[in-house]
Amino acid sequence: MTNQGNNRLSDSILYPFANAGHLARNPPVVIESGEGVYLTDSTGKRYIDGQAGLWNVNVGHGRPEVKEAIKAQLDRISYYTIFGGTTNMPSVELAELLCRLTEPEGMVRAFFSSGGSEAVEAAFKLVRQYWRLRGEATRTKIISLKRGYHGVTLGALSANGITPNREYFEPLLPGFVQVETPHLYGNPYTDDHEELGRICADMLEREIQYQGPNTVAAFIAEPVQGAGGVIVPPPNYWPRVREICDRYDILLIADEVVTGFGRLGTMMGSRHWGVKPDIMTFAKGINSGYVPLGATMMNAKVAEVFLTSDTAQFSPKAFAHGNTYAGHPLACAAALASLKIVEDEKLSENAGRVGAYFLQRLKDVQSRNKIIADVRGQGLMIGVELANPETGQPFDISLGVGSRISDHCREKGVIIRNLADIFIISPPFILETGHVDEMVETFEEAVVSSA
Ligand SMILES: Cc1ncc(COP(=O)(O)O)c(C=O)c1O
Repeated sequence: MTNQGNNRLSDSILYPFANAGHLARNPPVVIESGEGVYLTDSTGKRYIDGQAGLWNVNVGHGRPEVKEAIKAQLDRISYYTIFGGTTNMPSVELAELLCRLTEPEGMVRAFFSSGGSEAVEAAFKLVRQYWRLRGEATRTKIISLKRGYHGVTLGALSANGITPNREYFEPLLPGFVQVETPHLYGNPYTDDHEELGRICADMLEREIQYQGPNTVAAFIAEPVQGAGGVIVPPPNYWPRVREICDRYDILLIADEVVTGFGRLGTMMGSRHWGVKPDIMTFAKGINSGYVPLGATMMNAKVAEVFLTSDTAQFSPKAFAHGNTYAGHPLACAAALASLKIVEDEKLSENAGRVGAYFLQRLKDVQSRNKIIADVRGQGLMIGVELANPETGQPFDISLGVGSRISDHCREKGVIIRNLADIFIISPPFILETGHVDEMVETFEEAVVSSA
């Protein structure tokens, strides 16, 4: 049965990751417009968007340059396929731009899709076909991290390390295993960040040996884990992972869906760690969410297996994958305009600078409020975790402490997302320190009133 209640906002949509009963009692806020870091709802109330949509509206809402680019493309043609011998210039120009932006990482080709999960699916299929074409068909397994988030389609989900996302859909695909994530807060191994990096990298190596290196196709991880709770690995972790992948000839996939294009304060998340992956996945910030888009980039080592002098239209070397909306001209036009803003306005530098200020201000809040157990982050990717000060353990989930704080902030005009008792702060890169002050003061007030 549908439309049982009388709330238009919640009676027809089955909302993602949301309890329908809760939404029926707490109808979703209708966001009607946005400008810069601000949103306005249908009652005219204004908010600072502390989550940049869903960590994606990096250049801010309503940017005229992006809207103009989309309109101009719409006036030419809204869609045509890049399958079967046709293409469009926005997708060609965007692929060239992506290659230039990822030149330090050695990327040479872009494969387009419609979002982050699809970019990850493409990466997994790319590595499987890569090993087949290289004559090593046994290399099919994907290793990833516990608490990693790579999307919701069954392949991407199989690499996820977040139990509540996985459990209803088990059994997931065979050949996917997760290893320990190097998360300092609450880990049972050590208080030393570097040592933790060594321990967790060693665990990865032992898992590869256990699985049999010639069965492992790739290792995938986020440069900073996002939806798993903003987990910043130790500086030695990614370089060690790169060394281990090289030792066993395993492809390294950096899932840059959140970290790509500046969120950590460097144009690429991998660059922050000084590591060159073999494959990088992008979505979200690629065009600040104006039109859905995903991209999977590959370096020369991967690409060359698919490049052939064979001129037949159909060849076993063709990558056997593609979505209808691959290279969508509106999405690519939006990406060209949005990435120009990121470069022209040096927004990744701003994310680094304002993010450092934000982190420090939240650490000050932590020093005054015992229920804040951990504040962590890099650039404009920040996590704040609560714990019961009496036990040092997470609060009972039924107490809803995190939701109360988040609701209080929203009431006061600041949107800060909570995943249970972890707050995820991921604002647009155009954020200024004045916005930070307002957000932090509102957040502290909410913490004090909810404690
Ligand atoms: C690191 C990472 N990879 C993949 C995805 C999936 O992207 P999408 O929701 O666009 O499918 C996400 C989404 O949050 C993500 O954070």
